[in-house]
Amino acid sequence: MFSVIKLASETLTERYNPSLFNYFYETFPEGFIVAEKAHKIIGFLIGVKINPEYAKILMLAVSKYHRKQSIGSGLLNQFLRVIYIEKIKRIELEVRTNNKAAIKFYQKHGFKIKEKKREFYQSGEDAYTMIKEI
Ligand SMILES: CC(C)(COP(=O)(O)OP(=O)(O)OC[C@H]1O[C@@H](n2cnc3c(N)ncnc32)[C@H](O)[C@@H]1OP(=O)(O)O)[C@@H](O)C(=O)NCCC(=O)NCCS
Repeated sequence: MFSVIKLASETLTERYNPSLFNYFYETFPEGFIVAEKAHKIIGFLIGVKINPEYAKILMLAVSKYHRKQSIGSGLLNQFLRVIYIEKIKRIELEVRTNNKAAIKFYQKHGFKIKEKKREFYQSGEDAYTMIKEI
């Protein structure tokens, strides 16, 4: 758990209370997915089931030394398998409107921009809600 929290603080702009990670893991362990290389965590995805119909991806990050090597795609595909087993029909997430890499990544995986949420982040930056129907 410590490695995931450390990677989150190195790769994500938003700051999360460390206790949240345990909470998400306990709430929906299937949605807490990590990628390892040589016994080190190099990426993770945290998704939660909001209700029987839909799930949310709360965090997704790959260490900056391991990007563009399909690690993020592997994490997302694993989460899609969980969604399929759970018969969930929709996935949503928020992404910074200026995070071009992540927007492109999600679009490549079939997510579409649904709406803009103003001042969604602690920093006051805007988010897009992106959505994928299964
Ligand atoms: C977004 C992120 C998770 C992608 O992980 P990744 O392992 O590098 O992604 P993949 O190698 O699986 O990329 C798959 C596709 O996404 C797109 N993509 C990924 N990174 C991209 C970039 N920097 N610029 C443009 N497109 C990109 C490409 O279409 C890519 O396909 P290609 O390699 O055939 O060109 C990673 O960049 C990251 O951790 N960013 C910082 C944290 C973050 O922004 N998280 C999302 C917040 S919601």
